[in-house]
Amino acid sequence: MWKPPQRIRHQTSTAPWPSAEAAQRSRLFSPIEAGRLSLRERSWVPAMVPWRATDDGEVTDDVVDWYRRFAEGKPGAIVVEATGVRDVPSGPLLRIGHDRYVPGLARIVEAVREASGGQTRLFIQIIDFLAIRRRPEREKFLRRFLTITGALRDAVDAASDDEAREILVAMNDDELSALLGARDYENLTRGFRERVTDMDQPHIRDLPRTLPAIFADAARRAEAAGFDGVELHYAHAYTMASFLSALNTREDGYGGARANRLRLPLETFRAVRDAVGENFVVGCRMLSEDCIDGGSTVDDAAFFASEFARAGIDFISLSRGGKFEDALAPKPGEAIYPYTGPSGYECMPQIISDEFGPFGRNAGAAHKIRAAIRASGCATPIVVAGGVHHFAQAEKLLDDGAADIIGFARQALADPDWFEKVRRGRGAEVNTCKYSNYCEGLDQKHKMVTCQLWDRAELDEPDVKLAPDGKRRTLAPRWNTN
Ligand SMILES: Cc1cc2nc3c(=O)[nH]c(=O)nc-3n(C[C@H](O)[C@H](O)[C@H](O)COP(=O)(O)O)c2cc1C
Ligand code: SF4
Repeated sequence: MWKPPQRIRHQTSTAPWPSAEAAQRSRLFSPIEAGRLSLRERSWVPAMVPWRATDDGEVTDDVVDWYRRFAEGKPGAIVVEATGVRDVPSGPLLRIGHDRYVPGLARIVEAVREASGGQTRLFIQIIDFLAIRRRPEREKFLRRFLTITGALRDAVDAASDDEAREILVAMNDDELSALLGARDYENLTRGFRERVTDMDQPHIRDLPRTLPAIFADAARRAEAAGFDGVELHYAHAYTMASFLSALNTREDGYGGARANRLRLPLETFRAVRDAVGENFVVGCRMLSEDCIDGGSTVDDAAFFASEFARAGIDFISLSRGGKFEDALAPKPGEAIYPYTGPSGYECMPQIISDEFGPFGRNAGAAHKIRAAIRASGCATPIVVAGGVHHFAQAEKLLDDGAADIIGFARQALADPDWFEKVRRGRGAEVNTCKYSNYCEGLDQKHKMVTCQLWDRAELDEPDVKLAPDGKRRTLAPRWNTN
């Protein structure tokens, strides 16, 4: 995983914790009522994939236990992990692409309602993504997968395709990069990755025709399962964020100028809105900046967010970065992972950082975007996440007008009781996230996500469930309230 070259080790906050009375009077623990979105308090657990679904994308007992554990802290809202909208094999990623998934998903809703005493609102993040393939073995790619064109055969002065392949195998990477087209060289060194601009592919060309209905059906299923709403995944490296990105140069009216890049995400939002009931919440997660060369800027994001707000979206949750374009090249046999480059660092910053540090990296951009929404006359609530682990940080973000709701992802993973501890004036008992990204390393390998802070605690308790390697708790240890 990429780290800023400055390698400065930062410290988590040591500010005093509030008393129960001060917490009760705070902004964080005050309710928010904004259109359809009504939360008992302004705390939010953003989507985090824990890799606990079956290989068919079904909910397991482990998935249910994972969300029940978050709900015990009674945050204002929880967003269930990125869940695939299509009915296609996608490994152990949760899916919502068919009605058969509804009963399993309803189990999560039931568990969260019960554990939070009905206090926590529950949303599900729905996602579409394009195909990626593992990085191929070099010789296999050159001998079997690479298309040998007449021009390439001539360039290496070969009499046949087979001869051209053998000449290419004998070349070093610099020679290959000079000879192969940019896309072929990328397929060799980073693995094949589809793009929204691959207009020669009918299924890519047709995305504006197909995706709105696919998302709308998924949202309808989420409503049938009992969720309070959906979060459309318009962030990071996935299909909708790629439409919004300034790198989207499609010439069919869905790329190029930013109003065109916005078109499919907006049409999809409208299709979803039409498919669900009047009270069902429909929000989105989007990037405040792509954080890659040539990508969308905070001005683009302010435009997109204001247009979503004007179209009646119920909330906008802001993330940043997390792109494929600057991700590290995977090893042969592995797939590229979008959180391994500088933009990935912006998305999930670690404790070892640059001068700015890992906390509040999205605050400035969120402030601008929220101000643009307010200037367009909309009161749409903004959620911001990124390194928030202390009550004082959350209060400041709310006081400064950077956000209306505060996302705690890794901090909630490290200690799901954070909310209850701080609410009760027992913030000193919080287990503070170390921002080590041990959890993220597991996510990258599609292994059951756990936190390094849990692993040492009471492994021999009778009811402790361990991950398949037998060394890690699958859930945060219980808070001893005595
Ligand atoms: C293990 C893990 C899985 C994640 N999965 C998702 C996801 O499914 N969807 C998403 O939008 N963000 C995902 N994220 C990003 C978080 O929601 C959040 O934006 C990021 O961790 C920064 O917030 P934090 O500093 O509070 O952790 C994930 C993060 C982690 C650590
Ligand atoms: S493993 Fe735990 S302590 Fe480390 S970053 Fe993840 S949540 Fe924080």
